[in-house]
Amino acid sequence: MAKVLSVVGNRPQYVKAAPLCVALAAHADVVGVDTGQHYDPELSQVFYDELGIAPPVHRLEVGSGSHAAMTARILERIEPVLVAEQPDWCVVYGDTNSTIAAALAAAKLGIPIAHVEAGLRSFDRSMPEELNRVLTDAISTVLLAPSQTGADNLAAEGITDGVHVVGDVMADAARLFGPIAERSDALAQLGLEPGGYVLATIHREANTRQPALGRLVAALSALDCDVVLPIHPRTAAALDREGLAFGGRVRVVPPAPYLGFTALLRGARVLVTDSGGAQKEAWFHGVPCITLRDRTEWVETVEAGGNVLVADDAEAIAAAVAHPPQPADWPALYGDGHAAERIAHVLLGS
Ligand code: UD1
Repeated sequence: MAKVLSVVGNRPQYVKAAPLCVALAAHADVVGVDTGQHYDPELSQVFYDELGIAPPVHRLEVGSGSHAAMTARILERIEPVLVAEQPDWCVVYGDTNSTIAAALAAAKLGIPIAHVEAGLRSFDRSMPEELNRVLTDAISTVLLAPSQTGADNLAAEGITDGVHVVGDVMADAARLFGPIAERSDALAQLGLEPGGYVLATIHREANTRQPALGRLVAALSALDCDVVLPIHPRTAAALDREGLAFGGRVRVVPPAPYLGFTALLRGARVLVTDSGGAQKEAWFHGVPCITLRDRTEWVETVEAGGNVLVADDAEAIAAAVAHPPQPADWPALYGDGHAAERIAHVLLGS
């Protein structure tokens, strides 16, 4: 039986790994590795509990640090795991420091790498995630693109071998877990009515620094509607550091677990976010999205009229919240929710 090492380390990666590990486990021995990039239980353990992912066989416990320090610690700690396990595939997800570190260690050992969510580009190399994506794609054996845009971006960089457009595993997750999230009591716990509030998230590095952070705090605090903001620890620390606080009708709440967040998203009138994954999740659940960045990797959501880029411009944020983007319909931009089976087929021929 083939052996597949699946490397996760932070919140969005648990969501991506959940459907894929189920599909792979039917035909392979799946060995989970958790780098520990996210260690707060609200950002990590709760995802294992809710999504039913098998606990990791290896925990690298790297914690936080500078990009270089974190990446270096993962490289150093994953190498002996790869040597001991000798997997047929090392599967990495998305664009985080865990992604590039695991891929680089595997590449140096000659272990084939499968990159889930390959080919995405914001074309902004000041973003750490963009560097992680470009570098991971350059050394991956199999590149699993969520849509044709990803394959086109790779072709423009001269990468055509091993590229497969398989759809998006987050669409699989939305299909599998959306109905379960309906049973969550997240809205009731916060006294919210469906359609009666704006859901907001902010955690992107550039938005947790000044002057962007202050602008976003002022812009959201000035909105004339209820805003619920599950706060990322990085953002909470940045607010403390800068002596800033949300006001007006913004309610800051602890980070939401996946099913609770999905329920909050499905009930929201509109999502305001700088997250990559949440932009797409909004699309899957038919919720208009306002993106607090000037570019996005998920260009299809903008082209299809469900997402608008406003960066930290208060007027644009207020105007978009008053009149959210509303496409005529919500076609399946990222596959049919069965990407995981296709990936299993590519890797295992099953
Ligand atoms: C990382 C990813 C980002 C992804 C996000 C999802 C990189 C470069 N970025 O960003 O693409 O969208 O995860 O959440 O990998 N912290 C805690 N507790 C934790 C984890 C982090 O307090 O469990 C704090 C620390 O102060 C840390 C900071 O948050 O330094 C940032 O964490 P980090 O993992 O570097 O990046 P994220 O912003 O979470």
